[in-house]
Amino acid sequence: MDYKDSLQVIADSIKKAQKFYVLTGAGISTESGIPDFRTPGTGLWKKINPMEYATSNVLKKDPKTFYKVVYSRFASLLYAQPNKAHLILAELEEKGYLKGIITQNIDGLHYKAGSRKVWEVHGHTRTCLCSTCDREYPLKLLSSQVEKEIIPPLCQECGHPLRPNIVLFGDPMSLDYEEACRAVKRGCDFLLVVGSSLTVFPVSQIPSYAKNLAVINIQPTGYDDKAVAVIREKAGKTLTHLLEYF
Ligand code: APR
Repeated sequence: MDYKDSLQVIADSIKKAQKFYVLTGAGISTESGIPDFRTPGTGLWKKINPMEYATSNVLKKDPKTFYKVVYSRFASLLYAQPNKAHLILAELEEKGYLKGIITQNIDGLHYKAGSRKVWEVHGHTRTCLCSTCDREYPLKLLSSQVEKEIIPPLCQECGHPLRPNIVLFGDPMSLDYEEACRAVKRGCDFLLVVGSSLTVFPVSQIPSYAKNLAVINIQPTGYDDKAVAVIREKAGKTLTHLLEYF
């Protein structure tokens, strides 16, 4: 199926769907200047082993390493701006087609683009948490201490370590993840995946709960053979062309 036919199939599927959701990954934010994780050559995990740095165990046992390696990526997210792809998904929600976005991204760019129903299944960078008394604070309380090399940053109430409000390898999944799974299992007649390798469990299971699926992703994914359409092009360009059908 060529590019235009694939766009037509995706547009028709969205128009027919009662419950259309989108699942996004780091690939939708690369056009905002945020490198993804697994693109050969540029992906973050191609340079560092996530199991040595981005785990709840490293955060607890070796916070200096965690903050030195993982936190630097964090800081770059705070200034990123939504790109065309984020804005077009917000417009599809505005027009009443898109019921919700399930995102693996912690960059908050869907909300910045104006999307309202977003499940941030791996958390976000707006707040931080006390790992003992569970109080939640603006991220600033953590970042200001890390910048002064107070590591681990401490809760101002109970004095125990603060942590970012993100899901690290080894953490339990978020409430947003549970809710997103329930929504898709309850009835998703069309799911569009945008910019994810679909390789990280348990989010990689979500496409299997949808009745119909399409993928917009530069690299091949394990779901391509189940998808009604696969477009191996950039998200910004593809969603710009897709919007012409609405
Ligand atoms: N347009 C379309 N696809 C793109 C673009 C783009 N502009 N840029 C990159 N991609 C594709 C890549 O080809 C890649 O297959 O996006 C995909 C991103 O895959 P990953 O880097 O694996 O990111 P993601 O799927 O979100 O990873 C899931 O892994 O480490 C964890 O917590 C991290 O949430 C992340 C999870």
